[in-house]
Amino acid sequence: MFSLCSQICRFAVVLCIGFCFVAVEALPGLNATQNELQSTGSCCDTLDYFLPGKVHDDTILDLDAAYEASLASYYSQQEQSLNPTCIVIPTTNEDVATAVFILNTAYKLSLSGCKFAIRSGGHTPQAGAANIEGGITIDLQQLNQVTISTDKSFAGIGPGNRWINIYPTLDAQGLTMVGGRVSTVGVGGLMTGGGVSFYSGRYGFACDNIYNFEVVLASGAIVNANSTSNPNLFRALKGGSNNFGVVTRFDVRLFQQGKLWGGTYTQIPTPETRTDVFNFIHNFTKSATYDPYAALISNFAWEAGVIELIVNDVEYTKPTPLPPAFEGLFDIPGVSTMRVDYLSSFTTEIAVASSTTNGKSNMFATLTFINDAAFMAELYALADAMVTDLNTHVLGLLFTMTYQPLPHAIYSKSAASNVLGLDRFTDDFINLLAVVSWQLASDDATVYTAVEKLFGDAEAAAKQRGLWNEFVYLNYAASWQKPITGYGEESKAFLESVSEVYDPGQLFQVGVPGGFKLATG
Ligand SMILES: Cc1cc2nc3c(=O)[nH]c(=O)nc-3n(C[C@H](O)[C@H](O)[C@H](O)COP(=O)(O)OP(=O)(O)OC[C@H]3O[C@@H](n4cnc5c(N)ncnc54)[C@H](O)[C@@H]3O)c2cc1C
Ligand SMILES: *[C@@H]1O[C@H](CO)[C@@H](O)[C@H](O)[C@H]1NC(C)=O
Ligand SMILES: *[C@@H]1O[C@H](CO)[C@@H](O)[C@H](O)[C@H]1NC(C)=O
Ligand SMILES: *[C@@H]1O[C@H](CO)[C@@H](O)[C@H](O)[C@H]1NC(C)=O
Repeated sequence: MFSLCSQICRFAVVLCIGFCFVAVEALPGLNATQNELQSTGSCCDTLDYFLPGKVHDDTILDLDAAYEASLASYYSQQEQSLNPTCIVIPTTNEDVATAVFILNTAYKLSLSGCKFAIRSGGHTPQAGAANIEGGITIDLQQLNQVTISTDKSFAGIGPGNRWINIYPTLDAQGLTMVGGRVSTVGVGGLMTGGGVSFYSGRYGFACDNIYNFEVVLASGAIVNANSTSNPNLFRALKGGSNNFGVVTRFDVRLFQQGKLWGGTYTQIPTPETRTDVFNFIHNFTKSATYDPYAALISNFAWEAGVIELIVNDVEYTKPTPLPPAFEGLFDIPGVSTMRVDYLSSFTTEIAVASSTTNGKSNMFATLTFINDAAFMAELYALADAMVTDLNTHVLGLLFTMTYQPLPHAIYSKSAASNVLGLDRFTDDFINLLAVVSWQLASDDATVYTAVEKLFGDAEAAAKQRGLWNEFVYLNYAASWQKPITGYGEESKAFLESVSEVYDPGQLFQVGVPGGFKLATG
């Protein structure tokens, strides 16, 4: 055992003390790993040797259902259509450590075909964020534990969960957590990229409510990152995405929560209705009067040029119908599913409503601007013109402009504990998200060009009116956007310093090319 430990620790002398006794059982020996890599010349074969039964591929002679199922479960067509050489599906944190140790050894040997992707729910639309062509994808789907502590103050949540695995369990115990708003979405990406929740008015971003990350570092070491152990890594992971390691468990704060009031309120967007809704959103998004129990997502949707709707996802995290915070909204005519029910019911309702886009060509893009009703209308007009044009030649276009309140009252909750850089600001913001879906992959380039131009125009208009803000929400960002840069110079420098300490060989910058990287994102 000691000699194995010293082999592993040649790569991580400083980090070794304290974890080696945990990690040593999990990791294959360095010499054995190198020998296997060199004799097979293949990372997938080496992974298969050390993790038998957990490595899946699709060679003609060995059609592997787990490989096909993993690919089919990505949200976007763009991610589904990539072909990794193999997909590793670890069942324990030690399996993840073994895989990362092997892949880091291959990286140091400069073996080709060994770059890899880290995948939890697979909901990032853009190709390569959580999948990889001709490399290895680590699919964390089996790390889906939900373990509630005996005193019910926290839960250990595996990154491979989707919210639908978590909320019904918590609902049944009168508990909840700060997490995602759509039941089908994944935990790993949402939590490491920030995480906007119906509870954000009360408790900030999802990442702000994590006590502890269990994370596999480049060395293969399994460490805890929390306020007393690896505190810089702890902060870096709150917004730092896949740049530091593979998170194998999130220990999250639980709090008591019974039923809430929520549902959707759908309106027909006449010009008058639109103006009224934008005025409502503007009024709702003022910190001075913001009710922390109130949450709103206003979706302006165009469906194939035929149907136009405003779908408001309205949530109030008390069982109180029609609180004053929403008074203006319900004066505007609409159709309601509002009710008192559990969180899992509302998150499933939104998942069902948005499920038509699963497996289609999809993209997101985002913009942060200072709360202003006239500018919300101006953005709508820009989008409407683009949709009118695209509809003449793009089949099955579904375009949604989603306006989400991000007042100072929300983002200041624990701004300094994460790396989003929002502690620099005091304005009340609106976070704009475009959700775009279409039928044919052959239209991908056309849509990308149109949406990039739309956001270029929107950003220029925001700047001209003094309403632009540099924050770019990572979980909503398009491939050309730069969320890490948007965190500001101080956060970016901090993230780079943490990367140098925990990943001196830059495995997660170079060997894991997908997602938003520190230097380029
Ligand atoms: C229908 C829908 C609803 C959404 N609702 C919300 C919402 O309510 N609130 C919100 O904030 N966002 C929401 N989002 C955005 C969502 O946060 C992102 O799409 C997020 O990336 C999803 O996480 P995932 O695990 O499914 O993603 P993945 O695509 O699997 O991963 C995203 C990125 O994180 C990295 N990553 C994933 N797991 C780990 C890990 N364990 N360790 C290290 N790196 C990891 C990946 O490498 C990848 O680059 C929604 C998205 C969709 C499609
Ligand atoms: C590992 O290999 C090196 C040289 O390649 C050798 O000196 C060392 O003894 C080996 N260690 C073990 C445990 O086999
Ligand atoms: C922080 O990490 C240390 C070292 O692993 C661990 O002993 C401690 O329990 C962790 N704290 C929390 C809150 O998880
Ligand atoms: C603005 O919001 C407050 C509550 O936050 C509400 O009392 C008031 O009626 C709203 N005004 C308008 C014009 O919607």
